[in-house]
Amino acid sequence: MRTADKAHPIVDAAAASLFQPLSLGGLVLPNRLAVAPMTRVSADEDGRASARMAHYYERFARGGFGMVVTEGIYTDQQFSQGYRFQPGMSDDGQADSWKPVLFGIQAHGVPVVAQLMHAGAISQGNRFREGTVAPSVIQPQGRQMPFYYGTGTYGRPSAMTDAQIADAVAGFGNAAKRAVAVAGFDAVEIHGANGYLLDQFMTDYTNAREDRWGGSTRSRIRLSLEVLKEVRHRVGAAVPVGVRISQAKVNDFSHKWQRGEEDAEVIFGSLGDAGVDFIHVTEFEAWKPAFGDAGPTLVHLAKKYAPAAAVVANGNLHEVGKAMSALGDGADMVAFGRGALANPDLPKRFAAQLPLRDFDPVILGPLADIKASELSL
Ligand SMILES: Cc1cc2nc3c(=O)[nH]c(=O)nc-3n(C[C@H](O)[C@H](O)[C@H](O)COP(=O)(O)O)c2cc1C
Repeated sequence: MRTADKAHPIVDAAAASLFQPLSLGGLVLPNRLAVAPMTRVSADEDGRASARMAHYYERFARGGFGMVVTEGIYTDQQFSQGYRFQPGMSDDGQADSWKPVLFGIQAHGVPVVAQLMHAGAISQGNRFREGTVAPSVIQPQGRQMPFYYGTGTYGRPSAMTDAQIADAVAGFGNAAKRAVAVAGFDAVEIHGANGYLLDQFMTDYTNAREDRWGGSTRSRIRLSLEVLKEVRHRVGAAVPVGVRISQAKVNDFSHKWQRGEEDAEVIFGSLGDAGVDFIHVTEFEAWKPAFGDAGPTLVHLAKKYAPAAAVVANGNLHEVGKAMSALGDGADMVAFGRGALANPDLPKRFAAQLPLRDFDPVILGPLADIKASELSL
């Protein structure tokens, strides 16, 4: 019987492109397969990463992934926290708590990316502040997520002042610096997607500001660019910095950018011009046209308008053929969410042409916390 191990995977020739090393802003990744960021609300109540998390994350590195992106980590002790039991990077104690997690992953030669996030208006659990902040006083659509301890509708946020915006930007910078210098992360991903604060600024219907942060797409992407600049300044040129971008949101799955490819050009083009090292694009089904029934995918557009940035593709790609097509479509790397939860050894399975386990939603219910049953997968 054929067996595969990490050092010498037996790779079907057709899947070989997924197992080519990749240089990402100077960081060498052993292959093109990444774990997508997934919030599992399994930190301590005070935002420290737990032993359970260390165990959970190590399995992905052992299973052959070439890069692990963490769950969204909150950045400051103001309005960024989104969920109870979410890990933070808001002080050195929280940063220290990641060391055993990183040790377990990096021991396999696998780099780890800290995803930094500010929840903005869709925060549903923050132990530092009452209430939420957002670009504008617009109550978010949808309902809070029970599997992250939420109930009912979202609260009405207050509109951020310039000082609060500056604090949020500084929070990203401080958290990025701590993630790299204290915890030992290899790279940083700024969460600009999925309906959280930076996406609230980028989205037409959640941003009604008439100052320099609102209006045209170019103005609405400004906050993400400011955060990118600050993070870059704080971590230095040698640390890869990426931004995650989506159209859909956790509270609006079907949102599409109103101006289609013109918006894509502004968003990806300005990130590329700002020197982003990678853009992580997520769509529900990443191989489908970004707008309407025909035309290019969002992955393709990211590469087209930010050719110097590496593109990470995500969204229902946990099939070897789909993952390879994403590479052919412009991606440099493919990230897996639910496919990785069900198959922490997905790369080894791809390499050995073994079938994947189906994702079982029981993993995420009734709460999304890491389950003991999962740790034996
Ligand atoms: C339990 C769970 C938690 C998630 N948490 C995050 C998160 O913290 N940050 C983020 O950018 N995306 C998050 N996502 C979205 C995933 O990264 C990914 O985009 C989504 O699962 C679609 O990819 P897939 O089809 O490979 O699962 C989460 C998804 C799941 C299932």
